[in-house]
Amino acid sequence: MRTFLIAGNWKMNAAPGEAKILAEEITGLWKGQTFTSEALLCPPFISIPAVAAAFQGTPFKVGAQNVHTENDGAYTGEISTSMLKDAGCEYVIVGHSERREYFHESDELVARKAKKVIDDRLKAIVCVGEVLSERKEGIHEDVVRRQVDAVLSHLGEDLSDNLVIAYEPVWAIGTGETATPEQAQEMHHFIRELIKGHWGEARSAKVRILYGGSMKPDNAGELLSQPDVDGGLIGGASLKAGSYSEILKISETV
Ligand code: 13P
Repeated sequence: MRTFLIAGNWKMNAAPGEAKILAEEITGLWKGQTFTSEALLCPPFISIPAVAAAFQGTPFKVGAQNVHTENDGAYTGEISTSMLKDAGCEYVIVGHSERREYFHESDELVARKAKKVIDDRLKAIVCVGEVLSERKEGIHEDVVRRQVDAVLSHLGEDLSDNLVIAYEPVWAIGTGETATPEQAQEMHHFIRELIKGHWGEARSAKVRILYGGSMKPDNAGELLSQPDVDGGLIGGASLKAGSYSEILKISETV
């Protein structure tokens, strides 16, 4: 049986005070109940300690949205893997489309970040996905192949246990438009085949592939029912305790 990863990406929302309240609301909804999915929330850096404190003694995990490739030194404004670990993070999202677009992160940089994260014993959630014009042109698989190959060629297969891929079609992020379950499955299967090409069948089966892009309680069940969809990376709907919790609950019933 698959263990889903239900990950929330709060993006640049939830200052420490708000983040504490939101994290406590989420854990409050699950008080005294257990679940088998892995539940992860990724607040802005500054809110990580507040969320980690609220999650103490609960199964909820905290992660980060970005990281630098160096250990320490003169990199003003940056955060290292050791700092994230010290603050209680288990996962780091890398290569989100917003970072690729607004901060010009290249495939090569995303690959180096993923390797740094995994080398330092954190888990990397590497985001890939095409923009609308690329899908309209019919080159979405070429784009995703380039993004996935860049990462896989930087990692040894022994690191595959700590790699998660998130397929986030850019045209579905924050737009309310979701990939259909068929479109999601088709791309997730394509990604699984790419991993198989690099590392073989057994390892490819173990790498979790999340779907992201307007996932909500309404569509989560259908998306998570697809054989190659191993969880969700949820933006807007993870900013409300009720809708995040609902998606987590749905993952328990799929
Ligand atoms: P939305 O769920 O708001 O579309 O965001 C998806 C996303 O970018 C998660 O990383």
